[in-house]
Amino acid sequence: MKIELRSQYPNKQIGFPGGLLELSWKVSGAASGASQLAYEIQSALDADFTTALKSDQVKSSQSQFVKAPHVPELSREMSFHRVRIETQSGWSEWSNTVVHETGLLNGSELIGVAIGDDSVAEDPATLLRTTFQVSKPVAQARLYASARGTFDVMINGAKAGDHLLAPGWTVYQHRILVETHDVTNYLVEGENAFGVLLTDGWWRGKLGWEERLNGYGDKTSFIGQIEIQYEDGSSEIIASDSNWKTATGGVRFASLYDGTTMDFTMAQPAWCKPGFDDSAWSPVQVHPLDKALLEPMTAPPVRVKQEFKMSFEQQADRVLLDASQNIAGWVRLKVDGKRGDKVVVRHAEVLGPNRTLHTVTLRTAKATDTYILGKDGVQELEPKHTFHGFQFADVVTEAKVLEATAIAITSDNQDRSTFESSHKLLNGFISNVKWSQRDNFVSIPTDCPQRDERMGWTGDAQAFIYAANTLVDGDAFMRSWLRDMALEQREDGNIGIVVPNIIEVHNGGKPHFFTTHATAGWGDAATVVPLALYDSYGDLEVLRTQLPTMRRWVDFFNSYRDETKLFPPIMQLGDWLDPDAPEDKPMNAKVSRQFMATAYLAHSAKLLARAEALVGDAAKEQHYRGIFEEIKLALWTTLAPDAMETQTGCSILLEFWLCPNDQREMVAAKLAEIVRSENGRIGTGFLGTPVILDALSRSGHLNEAYLMLLREEPRSWLFPVKVGATTIWERWEAINPDGSIAKGKMSDSNREDDENHSMISFNHYAYGAVLDWIHRNVAGLTPSAPGYKEVEIAPRPAEGIDWTKSAIETGYGKFSIDWKLDGNKLHAKVSVPFGVDAKLNLPISDGSTILVNGDVKHNGDVLEHGEYQIDLTHTQIAVPGRK
Ligand code: BGC
Repeated sequence: MKIELRSQYPNKQIGFPGGLLELSWKVSGAASGASQLAYEIQSALDADFTTALKSDQVKSSQSQFVKAPHVPELSREMSFHRVRIETQSGWSEWSNTVVHETGLLNGSELIGVAIGDDSVAEDPATLLRTTFQVSKPVAQARLYASARGTFDVMINGAKAGDHLLAPGWTVYQHRILVETHDVTNYLVEGENAFGVLLTDGWWRGKLGWEERLNGYGDKTSFIGQIEIQYEDGSSEIIASDSNWKTATGGVRFASLYDGTTMDFTMAQPAWCKPGFDDSAWSPVQVHPLDKALLEPMTAPPVRVKQEFKMSFEQQADRVLLDASQNIAGWVRLKVDGKRGDKVVVRHAEVLGPNRTLHTVTLRTAKATDTYILGKDGVQELEPKHTFHGFQFADVVTEAKVLEATAIAITSDNQDRSTFESSHKLLNGFISNVKWSQRDNFVSIPTDCPQRDERMGWTGDAQAFIYAANTLVDGDAFMRSWLRDMALEQREDGNIGIVVPNIIEVHNGGKPHFFTTHATAGWGDAATVVPLALYDSYGDLEVLRTQLPTMRRWVDFFNSYRDETKLFPPIMQLGDWLDPDAPEDKPMNAKVSRQFMATAYLAHSAKLLARAEALVGDAAKEQHYRGIFEEIKLALWTTLAPDAMETQTGCSILLEFWLCPNDQREMVAAKLAEIVRSENGRIGTGFLGTPVILDALSRSGHLNEAYLMLLREEPRSWLFPVKVGATTIWERWEAINPDGSIAKGKMSDSNREDDENHSMISFNHYAYGAVLDWIHRNVAGLTPSAPGYKEVEIAPRPAEGIDWTKSAIETGYGKFSIDWKLDGNKLHAKVSVPFGVDAKLNLPISDGSTILVNGDVKHNGDVLEHGEYQIDLTHTQIAVPGRK
């Protein structure tokens, strides 16, 4: 038996906050029939557990999010934790050890000052440096660092750690993250150099489509320190102070949207190495900083995820590169050239006519990296502190391009699931959703990685949250973002349409015209996301933490209702990007905005009531349930009849439980009829899409769900795959069947030049939300209790799909199903992790028999952990579109 222990924080990271430490474990190799009767968690201050702090033996089957007996409360504290469990065959061996190291719990423990220079936005990058001596053996060294701007710390010429775009984007006016790195191995005897490369980043770089600079401030600065513990027991801190020096070097420009300009003829290659002569450098400037803003980072950093060798195509005046995958990241080039040669790399998601980059969809983002070579010969080029959303790039240069690699970056959440099937296009779709998730989880959950937005649109995140949770373990990532949401929640309770709310930050902290009011489906991220995290991972703590934010949001949202009990017909984004809405008016969906807003208000009130029941207050639960019921009643006779003419309206009524119980069948039949009459053609926008397949399948219309899912003609999930998409498009019709690229024109702005004024990205994840439905219904990996504590084995095969192989790494371990059809017999190999109950919910029909490892079983029977061979006869196979 093996026990794998982890905490709520990302593996192998250090520098966390103190306080509640939650431990979870997976058990493998337990005897069949064994269950956890008790657990013992030990916490200690050393890896050998000789200075055991506390030990808890508890009779409980709980294995997820168990409070560690020791609560870390001190900065820099390293504590060690392990668990063993008791089963019917006695106590197990101890698990692996989880090492938890706290960071600096109080910003004032960064003893230095924030240093920078007098540069302004878009100036050359700032270099900062100091040196220090190490004259005795080092036991351990830590770097604590943060910046207003984006930074790399360089110690003796090497970048400390592998985090990218540090310290990430948070609501800087409320909190700025401090990174912690183990830098023991970076130090040398004698002189050491401590350098910093500092650029504008999200702090003062261009953000948003209005091309605004200086969002959070007009000066960038760095604060940090290296803390050395010597073997002789003494210690020393080298902190950012006014004695540091500053200059500029080869990085002449670095912008998240526009790219980097690097002139290597101006570089000072040894600037961050010992022995460098910095006598020509200037003294740094000290910029005032409220250290109370500084707090330890809790989410995984942005890292390189994957590299793609790019193919070459020599064109008349340029080299066209293709990564074969649309990513967020950049190109690393190997070139052979001469000092002074210029290399210009532009990026785009798709190619236009004549195989040229289609850059108009980037709008104002220049997405161009420019290099001036500093020497003759072969050299590698890579930009700094920028990223682009692209599959293609072109290079114009007099140098020879030898090699090109596309570097894909993402917030480093662990992959959680796999899905493969006999259906090629469906597999392609799953891959596209996966990449859209990766490309758009860059520090925060964003809308897109390429154009002049890349912001934390709340509506996109809530639409996609269940799919995201199925793809990756994003618990810590999302909770960090929820913390930003809570900190930035307006006094009146309103939640931003983007978090961090850069739109209001640019507006001097005041509401912008389209952020003054409650925006349904966007602000509801405040309720939807925490409950989705609870459902997918099973930790109630997220609800406890977010409850005040949820309450204030729902109270604010609810304050709009008048005597009609409905939300008023005011400006809303609605079922955004309904494909039948006018191209330039994506909020003018078929279903009324008033219906959507009122329905979302009811939905949020119900979600909040659920949270109240779990961690809150019984009277409040009643109150919010009352709001839901009141709206349900009012909606049915007023706005529901019109809404029922649309796919989204019917789906929302069903999935938000807003129609009277005795009318559900009627509404479902209506939806199924609309879907059939349109031959599965999608008619939903951002808010309808995530729910439509569940609305159909849960109400007995699986054939219609498959009609939609497997449709290959336009306005479908699979058409983009068919024409080569490698990520999910923002609009259903982004590339037309004749290969032309849609304009996505948005004419209701002040811009005259239409070209620059479009809204069409090839990498928005909202429409990929149905990935979660595919896992639950096609693969049959269906959670039925929070955190997959209980699951159902519920594949729903359909004509056109002969087999699937899928797995999800739950907190308990791997839950997997590989099934294949042989005529109307279904054979499945199933693996159920320890601690999970799996109920049979197989697609039976008259005459079906179910054999589990050769024994007769019935739907409803529960399997405990183990490996199973399941054989079903007379399988019910869905027929797309059949009535
Ligand atoms: C973003 C979206 C967002 C929408 C709402 C767009 O520009 O890219 O994904 O949710 O605006 O207005």
